[in-house]
Amino acid sequence: VTIYVPRDSGSLALGADKVAKALAAEIAKRRLDARIVRNGSRGMYWLEPMVEVATSAGRVAYGPVQAKDVGALLDAGLLDGGNHALALGDPEKIPFFARQQRLTFARCGITDPVSLEDYEAHGGLRGLRNALKLTPAEIVKQVTDSGLRGRGGAGFPTGIKWNTVLEAQGERKYIVCNADEGDSGTFSDRMVMEGDPFVLIEGMAIAGIATGATKGYIYLRSEYPHASIALREAIDAARKAGVLGQRILGSDHAFDMEVRIGAGAYVCGEETALLDSLEGKRGQVRAKPPLPAHKGLFGKPTVINNVISLASVPIIMDKGAEFYRDFGMGRSRGTIPIQLTGNVRHGGLFEAAFGMTLGELVDDIGGGTATGRAVRAVQVGGPLGAYFPRALFDTPFDYEAFAARDGLIGHAGIVVFDDSVDMLKQARFAMEFCAIESCGKCTPCRIGSTRGVETLDRLAANIEPEKQVELVTDLCNTMKFGSLCALGGFTPYPVMSALTHFPEDFRPQPMREAAE
Ligand code: NAI
Ligand code: SF4
Repeated sequence: VTIYVPRDSGSLALGADKVAKALAAEIAKRRLDARIVRNGSRGMYWLEPMVEVATSAGRVAYGPVQAKDVGALLDAGLLDGGNHALALGDPEKIPFFARQQRLTFARCGITDPVSLEDYEAHGGLRGLRNALKLTPAEIVKQVTDSGLRGRGGAGFPTGIKWNTVLEAQGERKYIVCNADEGDSGTFSDRMVMEGDPFVLIEGMAIAGIATGATKGYIYLRSEYPHASIALREAIDAARKAGVLGQRILGSDHAFDMEVRIGAGAYVCGEETALLDSLEGKRGQVRAKPPLPAHKGLFGKPTVINNVISLASVPIIMDKGAEFYRDFGMGRSRGTIPIQLTGNVRHGGLFEAAFGMTLGELVDDIGGGTATGRAVRAVQVGGPLGAYFPRALFDTPFDYEAFAARDGLIGHAGIVVFDDSVDMLKQARFAMEFCAIESCGKCTPCRIGSTRGVETLDRLAANIEPEKQVELVTDLCNTMKFGSLCALGGFTPYPVMSALTHFPEDFRPQPMREAAE
């Protein structure tokens, strides 16, 4: 009997290692015929650590399991999927899971993340094999036709980016995976790297074949040690099996990759700062043009894609562009792994076709707040994303629909706040975050963010409040249009959305007190 206990950092933080240890000890003591596989997470974090047993009737889940529950679970017949207060039945029938369309995360939480055999048994490498039968231009066309757009946040069409690199001249080209997932409330990159690293490796190999790049780097943030372990184990296994190396799966294509660890700066998630950091320099934003697609890593044509963009390629190359494009709405095609976090009852990863409304996601899927109080605001798209009030909950999850309402999907993190949130404090936090993380290269961001904090502090202290609101608005305009990169350029989103949608929190203090 196989028992699955997750090894991803979310589950580890909740005690998965202790559960695995307790299970192993009990299995040995009771001389049971069972083996433990450390899988990834299914992404339902309020149920983690979630233990699954592969019974003759399919998988049966239990959760959240603590080490102290292990004895009672075995007494209740865990190995046969026996009943117990923690039993959840078929994990795929849990409504949060059943309502998803898992394409990119199809294997995450199901397979052994570092077993290439398991990966292939669950449909892995089919995309790569198909790609090897095509010309680079044909692969690029498939990716373009699928409608896939950059999942890091900017939503730039992946196929067009690849085409620029394919057409660029260079004796060497590179594939760089941006795994510097710095947005607050996001963890989809981490979850797939820890739960199904081969899908990223396969996506990068396909990108290499499509553009003529033979070397790939995964730029991983230092805060992700467990992802680093899983990736390295998987890369080694792929190399041993000939999936990476001089002749990919016996073909004439060469591609290899390595993991590089960042040093903990938010701005290194910006692609040009990332390249500087990867080259061993201090991570500072470069002016564009030239685009990295023309002059990227070590001055050579480079594809830089987010983890999820690359991890979505294998399913496109396996099932075809049309299959993928059939999901979604408008110009937002395919699926997106939405991360529900903050003060939310059911926090986790929800992969769905574009088009669900924000309200459905927060109220139905997320189940409202964890505190049970009313939802007042949600921030979508990381620390530089806009705050949306309930009045905008009819916004569908779609790049253009969010932009039309002065917001952004970004890396698809949704952070939920209840009615105890103070939006003036949140606005100040955005400015403070920008001041701390600014690389210092341009004035609107470096100085503007600090002046922003001071102005909002004066507002909180009731010093000429109307004037401060005017000043902050003016400052946001300067930062938005005058900053060199998205860090300074996007900080106005949280600030201005807080000011626009929650003006009552920015009123002079006596008025706020009277209102309360
Ligand atoms: P951008 O719009 O400047 O560029 C998007 C991408 O398209 C870049 O890779 C750029 O090099 C490429 N590109 C543009 N024109 C091209 C062409 N003709 N050929 C080939 N490639 C081309 O956006 P940027 O500044 O790279 O990203 C901003 C986004 O980053 C924001 O929307 C924000 O949501 C997101 N972000 C994500 C974070 C995360 O943790 N994932 C953290 C912070 C911000
Ligand atoms: Fe650096 Fe900020 Fe300017 Fe970006 S906006 S280049 S982080 S100073």
